[in-house]
Amino acid sequence: MPHVIAIDGPAGAGKSTVARLLARRLGWRYLDTGALYRAVALASMEAGVSEHEGGAIAHLAASLDLRQDAEGRTSLGARDVSPLIRTEAVTQRASGVSALPEVRAALLAVQRNAALQENLVCEGRDMASVVFPQATLKVYLDAREEVRAGRRATELEGRDGHADRARVRHEMNARDHADSTRAAAPLRRMDDQILLDTSALTIEDVVSALEIMVKERLLHRQPR
Ligand code: DC
Repeated sequence: MPHVIAIDGPAGAGKSTVARLLARRLGWRYLDTGALYRAVALASMEAGVSEHEGGAIAHLAASLDLRQDAEGRTSLGARDVSPLIRTEAVTQRASGVSALPEVRAALLAVQRNAALQENLVCEGRDMASVVFPQATLKVYLDAREEVRAGRRATELEGRDGHADRARVRHEMNARDHADSTRAAAPLRRMDDQILLDTSALTIEDVVSALEIMVKERLLHRQPR
């Protein structure tokens, strides 16, 4: 079986950026699992399903032709939805959608299939706890709350030209609280995850640190 590097953590810890760069550096596949939940959220909005209709959303999730390429570009059928799933409305709904156990079950195979043929760097909230408990390396990326909120606001300013920083911080905390306290696969740090606080680190620092950890592990472990 191929190797899996599992990265979990709250919003703004740097997971996506770091996982994408690490995958590129290793020449491995990258899987952005948050994008899968976001795509289900988008599809439910486009289908006119209310966020309270859990059963209908779960049914929809199971019927979608959801794909992600090796760089994390996400499509519904032939349509690349990568830019569409980054809006605030989709971000908001994705948190609710990801709390539905049936949606999580529907996305499990898509995630595990990504590691059938190729070595994988994946990131999300339940990589180590549920999806890839046997991963070669399990990392929990974190950062101080104000640092994470600042990164998220800077990202939105870059994209939209402006961001209400107080609001961004409030909404990020509300989502993290929901993601960590839900019944189905909540975000939590496992004992066997290496904790890396990225508050005072550059992206390059984090990628290099992870690359060293991966190489160290590969010396001592055969593929799964
Ligand atoms: O990482 P992100 O912001 O793109 O994730 C979008 C939402 O999906 C977020 O509310 C957390 C949730 N999520 C999850 O529950 N499990 C994952 N493996 C990845 C994301």
